[in-house]
Amino acid sequence: MNARFDPGLRLRGRIGPPPDKSISHRAAIVGAIAAEPVRVANYLDAADTRSTLRAVGELGAIVERRAEEIVIRGVGMRNAQPPDQAIDVGNAGTLMRLLPGWLAFQQGASFTLDGDSSIRGRPVDRVARPLELMGARVEARDGRYPPFTVHGASLRGITYELPVASAQVKSCLLLAGLATDSTTVLEPIASRDHTERMLLSAGAQVSREPTAGGGFATTVGNADELELERVRVPGDLSSAAFLIAAGVLVPGARLVLGDVGVNWTRTGFLRILQRMGAIVVGELEEPGAFSAREPTCDLDVSYGPIVGTTVEAAEVPLAIDELPLVGLLGCFAEGETVVRGAAELRVKESDRIATVVDGLRGLGADIEALPDGFVVRGTGGLRGGRIDAHGDHRLALLGAVAGLASADGVEVVGMEAADVSYPRFADDIAALAS
Ligand code: S3P
Repeated sequence: MNARFDPGLRLRGRIGPPPDKSISHRAAIVGAIAAEPVRVANYLDAADTRSTLRAVGELGAIVERRAEEIVIRGVGMRNAQPPDQAIDVGNAGTLMRLLPGWLAFQQGASFTLDGDSSIRGRPVDRVARPLELMGARVEARDGRYPPFTVHGASLRGITYELPVASAQVKSCLLLAGLATDSTTVLEPIASRDHTERMLLSAGAQVSREPTAGGGFATTVGNADELELERVRVPGDLSSAAFLIAAGVLVPGARLVLGDVGVNWTRTGFLRILQRMGAIVVGELEEPGAFSAREPTCDLDVSYGPIVGTTVEAAEVPLAIDELPLVGLLGCFAEGETVVRGAAELRVKESDRIATVVDGLRGLGADIEALPDGFVVRGTGGLRGGRIDAHGDHRLALLGAVAGLASADGVEVVGMEAADVSYPRFADDIAALAS
């Protein structure tokens, strides 16, 4: 499927971005673990989050779709039923890394997980190692790739320092930690904390302390059961980010994005934008805050000039999925924009350093790859042309926003395998322009 995005639109109005993907995945998984039915309103309807509902269904949970919400009738902490076949995670890295945390303590049961060709190139040793330290056994292809099998066991608590800042790995270990006396995950750099917040609201003991280097130590205690009040999934900041970038870059744009999740561990992109001089106004959560709540607010975005900035490693996990957009914004900014300490981008749905650099360069950008990021020299705009999404939804949407802000428009190709977690982007843009 190809799509074209042209300049010349006047983007004005109010819009709500799609529901948050990370929180949707977690609601489905925690719902499956919970003792009582969990009602989830505003669950994201996209391929990745459908994979999660299918997976928990295969493990014995019952998923009921109602008009206003879904209801998940879970199987309880220790009763996941091993399906006959491999659980297909599709393209969903978050599902692939979180689910094993629960499966690891299903004593005596084994579960195989597999996914599409992109998933088969994404490492799982980062969850397998610590789960093995806790007592589970994990067999992966070449020791590190899907398909892989988790053999559940009685787990022991560990203190584990994450070698890479990853909310997915942290979440996996916190889920596994529910079946131990106490498990602590040390993260050198803060990453999104939706799992911690949801476990806290589900009645688990979760505590978080800042560590000397700017990271956190998060500890979970043993839980007999989880119970979750109705969850309302907020709008996804990572999807809103495409509209925000369009609002900043398209001449004359003025957008209000309603009901966006602004948990501070997700709003790194907004802080980067503010540094670049962009006009984005909203009541953001204070950095460092921690509670069971997922705060939301409206974001008011206006078109305006921007300047280059440098994004260092400490900011990377807080803006990880938005860094391709920082590259795009850099093309329009005055001066140089640098992203460093972001080697993780190489193991996303595509190698997002290579695909962003090649993609934007093909549209006229002055951009160079670094081993762990990129450098863009702002030229005041982009010519346009054609960009290959390489089956990566965030690349496809990057191309779409580039098209709206470019001189000649952009054709996006290579979207076939993409789980477009923002499927109505083109319709939303058309509605804002009308
Ligand atoms: C996610 C965490 C991030 C992010 C991904 C979703 C999550 O991955 O890139 O899209 O929901 O926990 P890592 O934590 O592996 O960096």
